[in-house]
Amino acid sequence: MSLQERFEELHRLHRQAELAGGAERIQRQHTAGKKTARERLELLLDKGSFAEVDKFVVHQCRDFGMEAQRVLGDGVVTGSGRIHGRPVFVFAQDFTVFGGSLSEAYARKICKIMDLALKAGVPIIGLNDSGGARIQEGVVSLAAYADIFLRNTLASGVIPQISAIMGPCAGGAVYSPAITDFVFMVKNSSYMFVTGPDVIKAVTHEEVSFEELGGAGRHAGTSGVAHFAAESEEECLALIRELVTFLPQNNLEDPPLRQTLDPPDRVDETLQTAVPDQPNKPYDIKEIIRTVVDDHYFFEVHAEFAPNIVVGFGRLNGRPVGIVANQPAHLAGCLDINASLKGARFVRFCDCFNIPLVTFEDVPGFLPGTAQEYGGIIKHGAKLLFAYCEATVPKLTVITRKAYGGAYCVMSSKHIRGDANFAYPTAEIAVMGPEGAVNILYRRELDQAKDPVRFRDERTAEYREKFANPLVAAERGYVDEVIEPKDTRRKLIQALEILHTKRDSNPAKKHGNIPL
Ligand code: HXC
Repeated sequence: MSLQERFEELHRLHRQAELAGGAERIQRQHTAGKKTARERLELLLDKGSFAEVDKFVVHQCRDFGMEAQRVLGDGVVTGSGRIHGRPVFVFAQDFTVFGGSLSEAYARKICKIMDLALKAGVPIIGLNDSGGARIQEGVVSLAAYADIFLRNTLASGVIPQISAIMGPCAGGAVYSPAITDFVFMVKNSSYMFVTGPDVIKAVTHEEVSFEELGGAGRHAGTSGVAHFAAESEEECLALIRELVTFLPQNNLEDPPLRQTLDPPDRVDETLQTAVPDQPNKPYDIKEIIRTVVDDHYFFEVHAEFAPNIVVGFGRLNGRPVGIVANQPAHLAGCLDINASLKGARFVRFCDCFNIPLVTFEDVPGFLPGTAQEYGGIIKHGAKLLFAYCEATVPKLTVITRKAYGGAYCVMSSKHIRGDANFAYPTAEIAVMGPEGAVNILYRRELDQAKDPVRFRDERTAEYREKFANPLVAAERGYVDEVIEPKDTRRKLIQALEILHTKRDSNPAKKHGNIPL
């Protein structure tokens, strides 16, 4: 073969690999409203930055006539690229090749870049679109999945891992995304489940569609498996690009700074009345968050799940922070099982990756009821408590109104290593709300009172005067400073800057035993 012929052969192989499952299957993918693996990578990565590896890898299966069906790349496109100039490793499953199903060779490709990502300290992003284990390869393909699960687990807390579900994701295949830090789904074209509608029908006689069972809406809203449900593939990939701007490359780095023109000492008078006078009147905590962060920009995570707690990223004078906030506009901001799980996972993520935590607190307590108690609110609430206790990143807290009972302790209180604890003058910090407290403290007197309504009102007013304020806590130093709401941004930035070099650690151990 001449040199020229060798080059031509190489070009032919490239074209062949890029055509993957062929024009007809690519057309089918497009008709289904989906993009191909390569089209997705183009949107995800900075233009021209993708460096592919293992493009000519093929499977080694000899059963079911597979030796005659070898497609270059074998159904997954792997390599590295850049997002906003910063390196990432990527894999994109290609549904046009055996339905994106996972073979031994395919898994080796993924494991190879996972190993490199871990060694290089670079985030890894997986775009999933697959019929699961490649049926023709049997147990070899199951083993190959397990190889990926192990790497996901070992990389957890070392490099950020992000999964996008952009087609089917069934059976054990869902467990790799589930171990990663963030799961994105696309509405109407992606689904995740452990057992599909047919198996469910056979076993439980329930009839359920793919979308109802494991669509993006279901997982973003009901199960909480997905952190984001995008309207389209384009939006999904754009959201991933945005998310990584808040993250460090690995657990040994700080998150990246972004210059801002928003003054660090910006005072906002609208905040003075953001928390209503009446203690039971709802308000939207996101309005306070947006007013405080740089450029009013809050990147919410897990927005559709457990809306009684809000989590997401923002920046304060250019520094990324993770924000956790009770949401009085939903369930009065009560902590329930789902809110505890959502909050705990987010707190742990931020702590893994050196992202300071800012907590806005307005919580009347844990949600009462048998559903919560039987569902294990004790152990789930304990997860949030454990996560906050364990976190060693700078922890800033603003009590806007209620901080009652156990929830006071949980939400980044001074006692669990809160570094800067602020309270608004509207804060009420006590074992419980005035009405509940009076009912218990004066039960007998209330029964015997001539005018129980007046007696209750008087005692309630007394209790409110004495405890439903931030001053008792401030007298003991549980609150560092009672601030005017308009100064929130300035105060938080001041605290964050001084705490930037904070170092704290936990006792040496193999790992803690978070109450799972
Ligand atoms: C090999 C597969 C495949 C698989 C799909 N294909 N899944 N090939 N192994 N697991 C092939 C099909 O034969 C077809 O090939 C092409 O991919 C597209 O599939 P279609 O069925 O035509 O597409 P669609 O109608 O969109 O349906 C997609 C699907 C369906 C819902 C994913 O294919 C399906 O149910 N597949 C099986 C899913 C499954 O049960 N997987 C095993 C899960 S258990 P041609 O040549 O016609 O294009 C598992 C264990 C993991 O994954 C355990 C880890 C611990």
